[in-house]
This record gives sequence, C-alpha cells and structure tokens, in this order.
Amino acid sequence: MNPYQMYNPTRLHFGKGQLEKLKKELPVYGKNILLAYGGGSIKKNGLYDQVIAILNELNVNVVELTGIEPNPRLSTVRRGIELCREYQIDFILAVGGGSVIDCVKAIAIGAPYEGDVWDIITRKSVAHTALPLGTILTLAATGSEMNSSSVITNWETQDKLGWGSPLVFPKFSILDPQFTYSVPKDQTIYGIVDIMSHTLEIYFNNATNAPLQERFCESLLQTVIESAPHLMTDLSNYDARETILYCGTVALNGTLHGGIGGDWATHNIEHAVSAIYDIPHGGGLAILFPNWMKYNIELATPKLKQLGLRVFNIDPIGKNDRQIAEETIAALRAFWTSIGAPVRLADYNIDDSRIEEMVDKTLKFGPFGNFRKLDREDVRAIYELSL
Ligand code: NZQ
Ligand code: ZN
Repeated sequence: MNPYQMYNPTRLHFGKGQLEKLKKELPVYGKNILLAYGGGSIKKNGLYDQVIAILNELNVNVVELTGIEPNPRLSTVRRGIELCREYQIDFILAVGGGSVIDCVKAIAIGAPYEGDVWDIITRKSVAHTALPLGTILTLAATGSEMNSSSVITNWETQDKLGWGSPLVFPKFSILDPQFTYSVPKDQTIYGIVDIMSHTLEIYFNNATNAPLQERFCESLLQTVIESAPHLMTDLSNYDARETILYCGTVALNGTLHGGIGGDWATHNIEHAVSAIYDIPHGGGLAILFPNWMKYNIELATPKLKQLGLRVFNIDPIGKNDRQIAEETIAALRAFWTSIGAPVRLADYNIDDSRIEEMVDKTLKFGPFGNFRKLDREDVRAIYELSL
C-alpha cells in the first residue's frame, strides 16, 4: 500500500423517504439558498415540487439557477457565481446528477474568490474558502455527491478539466433510489459504465500489497454486473436502483482507493473527447477503457488475469496468462455491449480528424497515468484503436 490519508466529511442520507432530512440539514446554514438544477428532469418527475414544498416550509429565500448542462460549462458556473454575489447566498443546494453537483462545487468556490474561477480550475491559484453546498442526487454515476472533485468544461477553449478541493465536499447528500426511477435507459447505461470505470481505474494502480482494496473493487464490479441486467429489463426495479446508487457512491467516495490511488488515464483520455464532441462521459469510457487495456496488456496481464478469474468467471484451463487477459477484456466489452453501451468513436460520428487536438488536451499537464505513464504516442494509439 502507498501511504494515504482518509477524509470524508459528507453526511450521507441514503434510502426511501430521506428527503425529509433536508428539513434538519438546511436551517443551520442561513436563509438565502441557491437552488441549482439541470434541464428540467426534476420538474417532470415531481422532485422539484417536493423540494420547493420543503423550502417553503422552512421559510427560506430561494434563488434558482436552472439549465445546468450535462458536461457543465464555465459560463454557467459564472452565472451561478453572479447570483451568489447578487443575492448574498448562504448555501447552495444541487438537485440533479454529477453535472449539476460539479457545477455547484465550482460556484461554491468561485463565489467568495476575488479572481477568476477558471484560475482555480486550471490550478493557477488556490482558494481558501467556499460557500457550503448540499446535494439531492438523481442519477447514479459520478460519486460527486460524496467526493471533493468536479469537472468543468470551458466551451470557448474546449477544455474539460477535473479539479478538486476539500472545501467543496458536500455538507450532506440525500440519495433516495426512487429519485433515479426516471433516469432514461441510455443515461442509466452511461452511469453503470462510469461506476465500473471508476472501480477499474482504481483497480489498475501502482501500489503493491493491496489485497483488501482489490477485493473491494472486485466485489463492487460483481455487484454491478449482477444488478445491471435487472435494471435494463425494468428501469423501476427498486432493488437494482438502490444497489447501483449505492455502488456509485462507494466507487468514488474514498472507500476503494485508500492506499492505492488508481490509474485515471482513461478518464483523462475521455475528458478530451467530451471536451470537443460533448458526448456523455460514460459513453466515452465504454469505448476507450477496453482499448486502454488492450494497449497496456503487457503490463496489465497479471491484473487482467485476476480480474477475469475473480469477476468474469473465465475458465483458465488450457490457456496462458495472456490469453486469459485477452478474454477478460473481451468479457468486459461484451458486458457493456449487452447492456447497450457504445463500442467505437464512430458510434458518435467521431473520426480521426481531431485526434491530435485531443492528444494535446490530455497532455496539458504532461504525461499521465499512475499504472503506466502515457505519452503522445500512447494516447494517439489508444484513440486510433477506438475509432
Ligand atoms: O439536466 P436534467 O434535465 O436534470 O437531465 C439530466 C441530463 O440530461 C438527466 N437526468 C439526471 N437525473 C435524472 C435525469 N433524467 C431523468 N430523471 C432523472 N432522475 O441525465 C442527463 C445526464 O446528467 P449528468 O448530470 O450530466 O450525468 P452524470 O451524473 O453522469 O454526470 C456527468 C458529468 O460528471 C463528470 C463527467 O465528466 C460529466 O461532466 N464527472 C464527475 C466526476 C466527479 N465529480 O467526481 C467524476 C466522473 O468521472 C466524471 O468525470
Ligand atoms: Zn467517471
């Protein structure tokens, strides 16, 4: 294991009926609330009305930030910061998926900061304070509800950058699986792929002697693989929604990666694709991750073999390690295809015309990846395998 510290101050309210907890959580933070949400799904499924009813009961002043886009944009962050300043916001409540939460994290840190919030995201400056925020999660995917990370797209420069600060851990997050019933099938698939990808990023790491962490990852993957098909046949299957929602949070709240960190190259490679083409994050990961594995098979064979034997039940008889590793990659691809995930960049009409630009973006902070460092040539090859 590598030396590490664990810190996670987010209070999680998980389960049916937990929205009621908002009544206890909110009043300690003040009267002026920024209510932030996306393109309207919470109005269609009735969650908006439920939240507003509670906010009215609490007699707080509500200012709304609406229309936060998937792959949230810097321009929307700036709009939110202006609202916070104009209305002297005390607390920001995010109701939505990872995009709404990520946007709110950037607003929370940008509002009290005198300079440009993009400087914080690009690591040119460090913030020392942030507004408090809380979340009501509506989509199982990113883990943003219980971590300190955020991903923001600057559409003018077509940069999509992850950043983080302990200041933006949500104070609380409310997760009722029923709020995810209305997530459409495609977004449900992307979420499942994202959850599995977080676990796989962590699984491929540069640490030695992490048997428990590896078992944590493997059981999370097994659990998702067992539950996902139930969800695919019935999007309102409570047990499956509950399990996937719980997996999503555990995959990226620090539980799995203590002492091992993870690779995270594929996420960087995907962010460069969605920065330019604005595709769903999970869709991009489904295309790229098996190709990252193929490209790194030499180094990854022992891990892939373990994954194949323990998670994908691959029969090892008569096969060498390399063959088992190849079968593992095929099994992952087959599983994602079975639930309807995309396979190649062409599925999003992406050709090779902007590969060099994407390569440049991935290397903004130099060679990357903790399991194996990737340079220009490596990244280009992975994109080419994915066309
Ligand atoms: O905008 P609305 O109308 O709410 O619709 C959203 C959006 O169109 C819809 N949706 C969400 N909950 C719904 C629902 N539709 C019906 N019923 C519901 N209950 O789903 C669409 C996608 O939402 P979005 O928030 O974009 O999805 P997700 O949670 O997958 O977030 C993706 C963003 O998170 C970043 C990604 O890069 C991407 O920008 N990530 C954030 C991470 C983090 N903060 O730790 C880590 C991840 O690896 C990831 O990079
Ligand atoms: Zn992700």
